[in-house]
Amino acid sequence: MSKNSMTFRDNRTGKEVELPIIEGSTGPSVVDCTKFYRDFGLFMLDPGFKSTASCDSKITFIDGEKGILEHRGYPIEQLAEKSSYIETCYLLMYGELPTKDEFDWFNRLVVEHTMVHEQLLQFYKGFRRDAHPMAIMVGVVGALSAFYHDSLDIHDPRHREISAIRVLAKLPTIAAASYKYYTGQPFIYPNNNLSYAANFLNMMFSTPCEEYHISPIISDAMDKIFILHADHEQNASTATVRLAGSSQANPFACISAGISALWGPAHGGANEAVLKMLDEIGTPDRVSEYVEKARDPKDTFRLMGFGHRVYKNYDPRAKVLREAAKGVLEETGRADDPLFKIAMELERIALEDEYFIEKKLYPNVDFYSGIILRAIGFPPNMFTVIFALARSVGWISQWIEMIGDDHLSIGRPRQLYSGATKRDWVPIDERD
Ligand code: ACO
Repeated sequence: MSKNSMTFRDNRTGKEVELPIIEGSTGPSVVDCTKFYRDFGLFMLDPGFKSTASCDSKITFIDGEKGILEHRGYPIEQLAEKSSYIETCYLLMYGELPTKDEFDWFNRLVVEHTMVHEQLLQFYKGFRRDAHPMAIMVGVVGALSAFYHDSLDIHDPRHREISAIRVLAKLPTIAAASYKYYTGQPFIYPNNNLSYAANFLNMMFSTPCEEYHISPIISDAMDKIFILHADHEQNASTATVRLAGSSQANPFACISAGISALWGPAHGGANEAVLKMLDEIGTPDRVSEYVEKARDPKDTFRLMGFGHRVYKNYDPRAKVLREAAKGVLEETGRADDPLFKIAMELERIALEDEYFIEKKLYPNVDFYSGIILRAIGFPPNMFTVIFALARSVGWISQWIEMIGDDHLSIGRPRQLYSGATKRDWVPIDERD
């Protein structure tokens, strides 16, 4: 019997099968159960993927117990402090930090693709002015596949690369336009002399009649937010992108599917929900009342921005953002922001509360990102859009990894069927 294996025994039949255990470079090993159905005629039941690895990946590592997040081996704290979003994108896509020449080449490539096809801008007019910008994102990003046919052969590595660059380069333009559309202001074209973050801020906040002053502190904070949201291994939206991609759908359709999955309040939509919750709490003295509500098993209320499927410790991204928030509030003259005070008080009380300690519920990335984004001037309905724009590099890198895998096969989960068994159709006048 191999040491790197596990024996499964079906007590009904006495049949035993040895299943190989595969070790990763770090983190929990996995049991290879790909032949489990062949050997036992049984499926594994794991709704919500609580114990199931859906793929083999080399991109991002998380140790949720210790609060560790690494991209290609590099700790997120180091990337947030020393790297840039564009460099992190290169790292995620190609596996290594770029040399100076590689960085310049990649940066230029992204910059040269920031404009969208003029016809694509017509799409916006089809939406109501009060449409949620995430709804616009789902539609317009999906529509990219109708415009860029020349890079849709997913079996050609060069096409995959061009599509990836288009996603990275055009998402800020599409996101900013979704904001401009509902505010009724004209779209602002990308300015290729600006950095990725500064260009996005400029497309958001400048108008043809007024320049937007780009503060380096704000632009740095924006870049940091992008880095911190760039990838997070197999979360709901990334798993959605992979599943959609496994059918060999085109990358733009897959990214649009990822945006849809991200929108929910249990995932990327939480940063918008955090702000709503802080607004509702109103003053620091009401914080304990809400903590009490969150503890009450009869109340469905949850503290938004707390808890995580993987992190059972402080989310390392929230730690970085907590510090960044102070700088941004200072720069924007909001050092006394009442919502920040409520957030700090909420964090203080929750971290000392038995319920939160026992369930290992710590602040997650969404807890502080909303406060920073609001201080910069973003309305809450743009928060998840910014998350989607930053996460696009993670989605596309994971998609590239999956398509390039020799063992690519369509994702097809199985089920435990517990519905009615076979019965015969009855004419309508004979039914009870
Ligand atoms: N407030 C109060 N109680 C909570 C919270 C919370 N924010 N989160 C989890 N719990 C409790 C649950 O009620 C549950 O209690 P029980 O064991 O008595 O039933 C227990 O903690 C475990 O919760 P689950 O929902 O089973 O944990 P899961 O891993 O499935 O969910 C999730 C994780 C969805 C993030 C959850 O913590 C949550 O809803 N948080 C609030 C929303 C949020 O901030 N989402 C952003 C996540 S980060 C991201 O996507 C970028």
